[in-house]
Amino acid sequence: MKIILHISRQSGPDDKAKMVRYEMPDVDEHWSFLEMLDVLNERLIEKGEDPVTFDHDCREGICGSCGFVINGLAHGRQYAPEGRTTVCQLHMHRFSDGDELYLEPWRAKAFPVVKDLMVDRSAFDRVIQKGGYISVSTGNAPDGNAIPVPKDISDEAMNAAECIGCGACVASCKNASAMLFVSAKISHLGVLPQGQPERDKRAQAMVAQMDDEGFGNCTNQYECEAVCPKGISVNFISRMNADYRNSINKK
Ligand code: FES
Repeated sequence: MKIILHISRQSGPDDKAKMVRYEMPDVDEHWSFLEMLDVLNERLIEKGEDPVTFDHDCREGICGSCGFVINGLAHGRQYAPEGRTTVCQLHMHRFSDGDELYLEPWRAKAFPVVKDLMVDRSAFDRVIQKGGYISVSTGNAPDGNAIPVPKDISDEAMNAAECIGCGACVASCKNASAMLFVSAKISHLGVLPQGQPERDKRAQAMVAQMDDEGFGNCTNQYECEAVCPKGISVNFISRMNADYRNSINKK
């Protein structure tokens, strides 16, 4: 099938982005979306042109490296009606002959464009560094059953820990809010018994870093949850707000 790509190209953070049109006349429906870009890049390199830069690593939907906007939605969410799909897991049988696709990077002040479709998401790393740890005693590893964790609590922690930090939540929010991401990271430790000693400090430090990085506030429109490839619930934002409020009230 034939696919027309319009890709946002820019050589660096200070360059002005422009949409460049590429025709892919022989796309195989079994290709993944990123494989189609690989083929495009091979052809560009053969012609002596600059290949399109895009982030990727596992290509299995688990690392969170990939991600860009396809026709206005993060990870091409509209082409995966079942949801929970990263762009590396999107395959070309979802598209039709003659489709025109506009590819753009995540757009947020806190995610400066590195080149073409790749953005710098180190702001997420700095948020995690501010509080993503727990106190542990040194010495031998503790018995795995020494601290019993109720099933509903461990399930909730695992639901939060599913976040792969791809940044689709930020890209889909008109305030470029990172609250879904930050709330998942705060909650996956904060709900467990092992995460209680730093629960207040963690909530305050991570929220402060989120604000310092320039992310906006929640719009309450749930666009983040709709595009999240791991189905992280906005309920975690309520939990984060409660943790933050409680930590302030205890001061
Ligand atoms: S490349 Fe790892 S989630 Fe897409």
